[in-house]
Amino acid sequence: MTTTAKMTVTFNKGESVQDTALAKHDLSQAEWRKLWGVDKSAQIKLVQLAFMQYQHPDLGVVKTFMLDFGMTPIKTPEQDVWFKGYGSDAYVYHARKGPAAFLGGAFAVETFQDLERAMAIPGTKVLTNGIEKMDYAPGGGSIVTITDPEGFPLSLVYGQEGREPDEMPPEIIMNDEVRKPRQRKFQRFTTGPAAVFRLGHYGLVVSNFERQSRFYATNFNLIPSTLLHIELPGAEKETKRMDVAMFAHIDRGAELVDHHSFFLAQAAPGGETHVHHSSFEIHDLDSQMMGHDWLKKQGYRSVWGIGRHIAGSQIFDYWRDPNDFMVEHYIDGDVVNEDTPVSRDLASSAQDAAWGPEVPEDFTR
Ligand SMILES: [Fe+2]
Repeated sequence: MTTTAKMTVTFNKGESVQDTALAKHDLSQAEWRKLWGVDKSAQIKLVQLAFMQYQHPDLGVVKTFMLDFGMTPIKTPEQDVWFKGYGSDAYVYHARKGPAAFLGGAFAVETFQDLERAMAIPGTKVLTNGIEKMDYAPGGGSIVTITDPEGFPLSLVYGQEGREPDEMPPEIIMNDEVRKPRQRKFQRFTTGPAAVFRLGHYGLVVSNFERQSRFYATNFNLIPSTLLHIELPGAEKETKRMDVAMFAHIDRGAELVDHHSFFLAQAAPGGETHVHHSSFEIHDLDSQMMGHDWLKKQGYRSVWGIGRHIAGSQIFDYWRDPNDFMVEHYIDGDVVNEDTPVSRDLASSAQDAAWGPEVPEDFTR
């Protein structure tokens, strides 16, 4: 150290900041709808993201991975496995036997008619045999699977019954430097996988972001919480903004919902389109750290984490399943509602984390 060394530094800090006090280029949701010409009354009304569907060649291998990832198989006939979390959803993940493939996310809708309306969206192909009864699956209900403009499958379900949730994990009481609410109580843990509570979100890397985002945000009550853009040289010295990613929440009016249940990102020029990842909510930071250690010990491939995102604020941990599909554990995500502005930011910010390891190349491919 020399005598010219700095004597002061800005120490790190964290803060919970009001949504309206944050962004630089915000629009209200009503302004955004006007800009995009979205008619709310014409939309199919999603209620929540219900479950993910993937195809795997070896169901035994995926069953072992999912147990280590924190899901519990509840029904396992020859060709399928349904996995539950400890929350009230009938299940969170459906694995079907066959060549590795993404079979789509499934959203619960408000009415049976929403399923019929989905089949009538111009340009979509119906992949199921019309509206199918899910008598074979836990929770029953009806399902229709359609394609989006790039051929990604998208399922809508109605009438699926939830399950009695399992007991919630105990709340860990944390002492800080001043407040000591945990008095004469010692922190003790049982190591093992981090139990999954429920499904949170999934996202796609697409070739035509503009067309895809219009499909999802026009036909369904999905509205951006965050739009990311790049800047292109325009006429004179101006720069032109081009949107390249959208983190969208399900518009349930005043009700608080996840910052994003679904996202879309533009593929790099010449890059392949694919499902990016699906993400599952777990209990707290200790369970996340122990879950990370557990997956590492079993020899699975860590992608990125543990760190904290900026868009959505989640503490994240990304892994590859045995067939190279990316899955995420998260805690502490933002919740928003109709009063939250649509925030706009530079795309490079999505790769920033508030803290955590450097984003690996493998994450953005
Ligand atoms: Fe995520």
